[in-house]
Amino acid sequence: MDAVNGRGIYYSYDADCGGEPVLQNIAVLIRKGEFTAVLGANGSGKTTLARHFNALNHLQKGQLTVNELDVGDTSRHWDLRRHVGMVFQNPENQFVSLIVEEDLAFGLKNYETPEREIPQRIKKALASVSMDGYERHSLHRLSGGQKQRIALAAVLALEPDIVIFDEATSMLDPKGRSEVMGQMKKLHCEGKTIILITHDIEEAVEAENVILMNRGNILACGTPHEVLTDRALLEQAEILPPLAVQLYYDLKERGVCLAHCPLKKDELVEELCQLN
Ligand SMILES: Nc1ncnc2c1ncn2[C@@H]1O[C@H](COP(=O)(O)OP(=O)(O)OP(=O)(O)O)[C@@H](O)[C@H]1O
Ligand SMILES: [Mg+2]
Repeated sequence: MDAVNGRGIYYSYDADCGGEPVLQNIAVLIRKGEFTAVLGANGSGKTTLARHFNALNHLQKGQLTVNELDVGDTSRHWDLRRHVGMVFQNPENQFVSLIVEEDLAFGLKNYETPEREIPQRIKKALASVSMDGYERHSLHRLSGGQKQRIALAAVLALEPDIVIFDEATSMLDPKGRSEVMGQMKKLHCEGKTIILITHDIEEAVEAENVILMNRGNILACGTPHEVLTDRALLEQAEILPPLAVQLYYDLKERGVCLAHCPLKKDELVEELCQLN
């Protein structure tokens, strides 16, 4: 089953003035339950494409279904946004209240959740991001990582099938970053479709599939091994290879050939240990 299926997608921010499209003939396929990274340099069109998945950007040209809903049908947009949650770079921009539970309740009320169900839904969402008992906490007293987890809880309270993380870790320190990455992996294990938008190649390594974007186009799709070990492709996308891949090629240039190109640091160590 498809979570996202689109083709022939073009998008221009100033279509009325005949502006250059920032998405050009995009074809995209993401299966339900997959963990997909959308990787590309700044301005390559990642956010513009992802905002189509919950109709924050309206489809101008092409076809797109998300969670089996036709994104071109504006009457389904409200429904679509309940099933496709999005977590952004800066959690502060997503809060509508000062207190954790009020913030989560806002979204639930918007989607007409029965009043009696709201406390339970908030409790469950907070537990799923390991923030149990934070209902009455002030949002401004939380750390960056905790804020991002609350932003995620607000999305999860609506019980979406697809969760999009748009550079959601880029403002966090290594601890906050690994907290949020851990949440993504947990949600993926629970069966949700995860779309991770990033220009950090080491994050993309963690995904099952990678969509590589460049200047409004999709350059390549495939497993991290297929896409992220291809140095020429990454160069074209103006992205540096993962550290392990870079080392593999550096060693090769100095006459040391590893049996396989590693993607992660532990794979690199394993390959190095095989050397005589
Ligand atoms: N609201 C907007 N109005 C006009 N142009 C925009 C707008 N948002 C993005 N763009 C342009 O669209 C192109 C794609 O931008 P987009 O934000 O989708 O890229 P991105 O890959 O998400 O970049 P980043 O890594 O910096 O977040 C860029 O040229 C950008 O300048
Ligand atoms: Mg972006």
